[in-house]
Amino acid sequence: MAADLKWWQRGVLYQIYPRSFQDTNKDGIGDLPGIIERLDHLVDLGVDAAWISPIYPSPMADFGYDVSDYCGVAPLFGTLGDCDRLIAAAHARNLKIILDYVPNHTSDQHPWFLQSRRSRKNPYRDWYIWHDPAPHGGPPNNWLSNFGGSAWGLDEATGQYYYHSFLKEQPDLNWRNAATRHAMLHVLNFWLDRGVDGFRVDVLWMLIKDDQFRDNPPNPGYVPGNPSHHRLLSVYTANRPEVHEIVAEMRAVLDAYRNRVLIGEIYLPINQLVTYYGADLNGAQLPFNFQLIESAWSAEGIAEIIQKYEAALPPGAWPNWVLGNHDKSRLASRIGEAQARVAAMMLLTLRGTPTIYYGEEIGMLDVSIPPDEIQDPAEKNEPGLGLGRDPERTPIPWDGSLYAGFSRVKPWLPIGLDHLARNVSAQHTDPSSLLNLYRQLLALRRKTPALISGGISNVSATGHVLTYQRTLGADKFTISLNLGRDAQQIPHAAGTIIRSTHFDHSGHAIANNLVLRPAEGVISKLT
Ligand code: GLC
Repeated sequence: MAADLKWWQRGVLYQIYPRSFQDTNKDGIGDLPGIIERLDHLVDLGVDAAWISPIYPSPMADFGYDVSDYCGVAPLFGTLGDCDRLIAAAHARNLKIILDYVPNHTSDQHPWFLQSRRSRKNPYRDWYIWHDPAPHGGPPNNWLSNFGGSAWGLDEATGQYYYHSFLKEQPDLNWRNAATRHAMLHVLNFWLDRGVDGFRVDVLWMLIKDDQFRDNPPNPGYVPGNPSHHRLLSVYTANRPEVHEIVAEMRAVLDAYRNRVLIGEIYLPINQLVTYYGADLNGAQLPFNFQLIESAWSAEGIAEIIQKYEAALPPGAWPNWVLGNHDKSRLASRIGEAQARVAAMMLLTLRGTPTIYYGEEIGMLDVSIPPDEIQDPAEKNEPGLGLGRDPERTPIPWDGSLYAGFSRVKPWLPIGLDHLARNVSAQHTDPSSLLNLYRQLLALRRKTPALISGGISNVSATGHVLTYQRTLGADKFTISLNLGRDAQQIPHAAGTIIRSTHFDHSGHAIANNLVLRPAEGVISKLT
């Protein structure tokens, strides 16, 4: 029964990229007081928790994913006091707050790294991953950075290399060192004590690297034009067996508090992803499932993913689904604006916890960024491959005014030119808008136990139509989603249409077949 589930099983998560949500101090960058001002949007939408991308002090080489103090707030975003106020304001509205936790690497300006690079004898030396050059000079092995080039940075003063999975400004912490481990786990306590409801853990599957520093093997499937680090298989730099011990330790810290959630960012195939629930479900409660981001938008392909994922879940593990985030092209740009409505219905009716990326509720598109306004190091380091993540990180348009109600000055990234028509306030007043579809689907989900705790069955594809059933006791719902551009007629058990992506037809009876218009999705209750 839905009543027995935890809030993170019943609820819907909403990711906020804080730089782009609401600016209140007129620097063109969103901030914590801005999020507080806009919390009612989350309530109005009907979500349950906000995951906020990093807000910590940072030189912003990777826009906050390069942390220089885990227990503070970047002045750009506000103060610790603002964070406390945000937590309180959220809780007063029955919303939860989930912070981003970035344990794999710090900023090279973090005091730990400044110490670590001082000398080979410094007590902090072993907090990071240092290695002598290869016997004939050069980097110790062939490991590559996710942002291009070797993952080894030479520290000339001490003659050793340090490992960085990402930018050279983001040295990897050494999680094999007990003191590092202790300090990093304590960071969790710091925020849990302040009332935070959970964490999304950055690159959780990458935390531990091979202790023998073996070369990664070449990737026989490498396609030129893909990111250069794909030339190797990350056999020795990610998904190492020892990582699960650390996940369990993090989880144990959270379990000493009530009702907290551990979410992991993990890009792995399904069979490996599900191991992050932990051997005794003592790992992440929600290892993020990115299958729908990574796969083609096809009924057959998605039916297969749902079946494979459901079958792979360990007993007692709770599923989850994600359609977008700050690292991936916007949903409506990937699959088209018409299909974004179908995707909304899919996300909110599949079994498991959905995560909505800010702006998806109004169908925000990728914004093309003029070359001189590019911010993201992923684009700057490997230009022209389409790796830049700025397009999906632009400010959310709240209204049609200059700077879209986001700021009173020019924002840090351009606002989409479509904001005059596509904005929260315009969609609020349009009953058939995507925003109102999200609101209605979220409201329906909230009051329909079968959509929350019901089972999922009969997952199948008929042409371009994906169908599945959600069942709880005698309550049976069929979800039929037309992922194609043409109308489709499918056989359908007798029932009543509860909701269509096209807003009409509610209450219509279905006798034995259903006609779906192009890009139409329908939820029906079986009789
Ligand atoms: C994660 C974040 C991404 C960041 C990277 C390095 O993948 O989502 O934005 O650049 O980690 O921290």
